Amino acid sequence: MDRIELSKAKSFKGKFSPTPDKSISHRAVIFSSLSKGESIIRNFLRAEDTISTMNAMKMLGIEIQENLIPPFPPLAKGGKGGFSGELVINGNGIYGLKEPFNVIDCGNSGTTIRMLSGVLSGNPFFSVLTGDESLRTRPMGRVITPLRQMGAGIMARGEDRYPPVAIKGGGLNAIRYTMPVASAQVKSAILLAGLYADGETEIIEPAKSRDHTERMLSSFGAEINVDGLSVRIKGGTELKGTGVHVPGDFSSAAFFIIGALLIKDSDITIEGVGINPTRTGLISALKEMGADIEIYNIRNLSGEPVADIHCKGGAELNAINITKEKIPALIDEFPILCVAATQAEGLTTIRGAEELRVKESDRIKSMATELRKMGAEIEEFDDGLSIMGKRRLKGAFIESYRDHRVAMSLSIAALVADGTTTINGISSVNISFPGFFEILRRLTK
Ligand code: S3P
Repeated sequence: MDRIELSKAKSFKGKFSPTPDKSISHRAVIFSSLSKGESIIRNFLRAEDTISTMNAMKMLGIEIQENLIPPFPPLAKGGKGGFSGELVINGNGIYGLKEPFNVIDCGNSGTTIRMLSGVLSGNPFFSVLTGDESLRTRPMGRVITPLRQMGAGIMARGEDRYPPVAIKGGGLNAIRYTMPVASAQVKSAILLAGLYADGETEIIEPAKSRDHTERMLSSFGAEINVDGLSVRIKGGTELKGTGVHVPGDFSSAAFFIIGALLIKDSDITIEGVGINPTRTGLISALKEMGADIEIYNIRNLSGEPVADIHCKGGAELNAINITKEKIPALIDEFPILCVAATQAEGLTTIRGAEELRVKESDRIKSMATELRKMGAEIEEFDDGLSIMGKRRLKGAFIESYRDHRVAMSLSIAALVADGTTTINGISSVNISFPGFFEILRRLTK
C-alpha cells in the first residue's frame, strides 16, 4: 500500500540539507550534453524527474557516467530514485545528439518534455516525446507555437495541445516572441532552440520566471543578454563543458520551513539552500505574515546564491494577500503556502494563480478538496482560492493525486492536525524529494 499514517508532531528540531535543486539538475544534464568536452555535475538530484532527463539524454546518444555518493537514505515504497550523485558527461556539441531509436518517455516531468522540445526542434532528425498519465494532460501548445514560428516541424495530440509530441527539427530562424504566460520551462525551450537558430532570438516575459537557464547557459559559453523582462540569445554559438555544483532545492526546503513555523517548539537549520530571488517569493510572503526566519551565510555556488536558513516555530501568523505578479516566484510553493494559510489569522487570498491548474495535478482543486476534509475553510476561484484562518485541522483520509508537492504539503498539514491522517500515493515524493519522510522522521524524533 502506497500510504503513510501521520499524527501531530510536538516539534521539528535539527539541522539538515535538502535534496539538490531539481530545476538546476535538469539544466545541468541538458546543457552538459550539448557541450563540447567534459562537464562534471556535483550534487546532482537523483529523483524520478531528473532521472527522466538523464535517460532521455542517454537515448539521444549521450554517455553519462554516474558516480553514486553514499549514504543513500531508504526510499519510500515504489521509488527508484536515489538522492544525490556526481555525473560526468562528455558531450559532442549542440549537433552531437543522435536520432533516438524509440519514443522518449519523460515520465512526470514537465521540465524535461518542454526543454527537450526546444533542443529537438533544433535537430534535423525525428523524435517523439511522451510521458505518464499526468504529463499527457499538460499543455504543450505554449512551446509548440513559438517553436513552429522558428521553423520546427512539431505536432502533438489533441490539435497540438498535449503529449505525445512528434518533432522533425532543423533549419531554425530567430524570432522575437512575447510569451503569454510567465513560464521558465517555455522560456528555456525557446532559448535552447535559439542556440540552433540563425540570428538572435528574443523572448519577452510577462513577469520574471526563474532564471537558472540564463545563468547556467552563460557559464557554458552561450551569449545571453538579459534586460528586465527581455532575454536574448545568439544562435550558432558552441557550448563548452564546465563544472556545475547544484545547490539545495528551496522548493524542497519550503515544506520544512513551514513545518517548523507551524509546530510550536520547533527550531531548525537548513543548510546550503538556493535562494535565487526568482524562487524565494515564499520567504517574503512568510515574513509579511510574521514568521521568524533568518537567512545567513550567503555565498555563491556555480552562479547561484546559496544560504543557510534558520527558523523557529510559535510566532502568530497573519493572513496575506497574494496577487498575480507575486505568483512566479512562489509557483511551486502554492500547496505548502495553503497549509500555512489555514494556521494564519484572517482571510488569505491567492489570486492570478491559474497556472496552478495545469501542474502535476490541478493544485488549486487538490489543495482545496483535501484541506477541506481536514477542516479548513476554503473558497475556490478559477484563478486561486481564499482560506479563512485560523482553523484547527483534524486527521482525515487524504488523497495526494500522485502529485509530489501535494503529498508533501499535506504531510506537513497532518503533523499540525489533531488525530491521525492517512495520505494516499506517497511514493510520488520520489519525483523531486527521495528521503522526504526520513528527514521528517528525524526532525520529529
Ligand atoms: C520549472 C518551472 C516551473 C515550475 C516547475 C519547474 C523549471 O514551471 O513550476 O516545477 O524547472 O523551469 P513553469 O515554467 O511552467 O511555470
